Amino acid sequence: MTALLQAEGLQKTFHSRGREVHAVQNVSLSVSPGEALGIVGESGCGKTTTARMLLRLEEPSAGRIMFDGADITNAHGRHLIAYRARAQLVFQNPFDALNPRFTIRRSLTEPLRNFAIPVSEHQDRIESVMRRVRLVPAESWLDRRPHELSGGQLQRVVLARALISGPSLIVADEPVSMLDVSVRAGILNVLRDARDSLGLAALYISHDLALIRYVCEQTIVMYLGRIVEQGPTAELISRPAHPYTRALVAAVPVARVEQNREGLPIRGSLSDAPPDPSGCLFRNRCPSVMPRCATEAPTLRTIAPGRMVACHLEGAM
Ligand SMILES: Nc1ncnc2c1ncn2[C@@H]1O[C@H](COP(=O)(O)OP(=O)(O)OP(=O)(O)O)[C@@H](O)[C@H]1O
Ligand SMILES: [Mg+2]
Repeated sequence: MTALLQAEGLQKTFHSRGREVHAVQNVSLSVSPGEALGIVGESGCGKTTTARMLLRLEEPSAGRIMFDGADITNAHGRHLIAYRARAQLVFQNPFDALNPRFTIRRSLTEPLRNFAIPVSEHQDRIESVMRRVRLVPAESWLDRRPHELSGGQLQRVVLARALISGPSLIVADEPVSMLDVSVRAGILNVLRDARDSLGLAALYISHDLALIRYVCEQTIVMYLGRIVEQGPTAELISRPAHPYTRALVAAVPVARVEQNREGLPIRGSLSDAPPDPSGCLFRNRCPSVMPRCATEAPTLRTIAPGRMVACHLEGAM
């Protein structure tokens, strides 16, 4: 199937206080129409930066982004507006995402105006999107302001606002991490239903493999700005190839979205990146490290149809 979203060799280097931060290095990915792709990895591994580049909220230092056959890497003006209508971001924090002074109706009307949707369609679109996120009857919610809603209800409004322009792709960056565990599954189910009925493609970003497993067919594992493994979620979780993926999987003994877990069963943290960037960046935390790992950076190689890993281990499978 032709990809809806395709990125090749995405790169982002930040210059921060005289230091270079290689936040994303050589990330390529593709999302087909109707497919859900997950990006998982520890805090700071480059997930949000990748998502922001894909949505053109952050300029890539290098690489190319294609959407529906068109190169949108440098799109601007009306082309960028058209892209924004079709590729929508769901923010992590619903309390920050909505203007506290706006009624829900106004927050939903803004994108309709921005994307020049005829006024005659507004009321129908608003009602239909409120049904989709299960805030019904719409009239009982639309004149409220954000402080009158719970976190879970607010996140439903944020989803409604993302869906109202009729996008083909939703990018959800930690969509439930700020919410009480009791309402998480409800939000994910709204997203899943929207996907099923509208044929939406989705990119989910999370540090939580349990969430990714719940919603994504395909998964990418990132470590320090690079992809270390990718493949169909079920296989990646049942037979993780990269030692880092194994650690992520081991940290999710019972994969349930309602649970909170902390800590990985490997030493160190992302901030302990090896000082010498040649070789494998995971080597100082890796339980299977070999001499070769210090000198030779592993590149992504195919180990089975649709499955790739960046690791020198022969038995990485
Ligand atoms: N504007 C910026 N300026 C400088 N460094 C940045 C900037 N934004 C991100 N970074 C750095 O880039 C790296 C990747 O950050 P990013 O926010 O993409 O990680 P993340 O995987 O989304 O983490 P989290 O799970 O905590 O949200 C981090 O080292 C971060 O400090
Ligand atoms: Mg992030």
